[in-house]
Amino acid sequence: MGVPALIVAAGSGQRLGAGGPKALVELSGRPLYAWSVDAFRRATRIDRIFVAVPPGQAGQFEEPGIITVEGGETRSHSVANGLAAITADGDPGMVVVHDAARPLVSPALIDAAVIGLDSDPELHALIAAAPMTDTVKRLGEDGIVVETLDRSELVSVQTPQVFRIPNLQAAIAAGDLSAATDDASLVEAVGGSVGVIESPSGNIKVTVPADLELAALLLERSR
Ligand code: C5P
Repeated sequence: MGVPALIVAAGSGQRLGAGGPKALVELSGRPLYAWSVDAFRRATRIDRIFVAVPPGQAGQFEEPGIITVEGGETRSHSVANGLAAITADGDPGMVVVHDAARPLVSPALIDAAVIGLDSDPELHALIAAAPMTDTVKRLGEDGIVVETLDRSELVSVQTPQVFRIPNLQAAIAAGDLSAATDDASLVEAVGGSVGVIESPSGNIKVTVPADLELAALLLERSR
């Protein structure tokens, strides 16, 4: 049986400065979110695609076959709304959460993440992550460096993130949804076991205008 996907696309996109939702910004002739929808359509382990959209704007999300859900105030509220829709008719076991802002996600990574969680009963979630290439330092309140972190122990966290639904539901019920920047952190906060799967270097997140140019180049190369 397949697994449902939830693409969160309800952000305002203020940092992109496009004057509208980031998910609808044009990338290589299509709205940004449509590239992620394509990848999930091609993933063999996915059976339904839910998209969390900005409130009142579902009509602008026209990709065939998707199920739109009204997003919430923060990213985690959008996930909570999507999860409620996904489980309305029962618990399908697992869910794949993905940012619409990562248009270069590959079907292979999506399938590998689903298979990886499915085959490891010890894990509550499995998330895509990339090794750190920059050195990371922690700053004090005065803006002065306090310490340099050991890069070999760090990863840069991305999406897709695959969850066992009961664990994600419990984490959302207990968590501070306003503060979370990813959903796995909510699962970690209630003691859940979160594994990582290495994602390819091209799985970039579109945040500022220069990211759109890079995404267009990478899409061109992958076609
Ligand atoms: O703002 P940021 O780029 O971190 O958002 C990550 C993802 O979460 C984006 O795809 C965005 O559309 C989504 N989001 C959401 N609902 C919100 C805020 C962000 O679905 N209220």
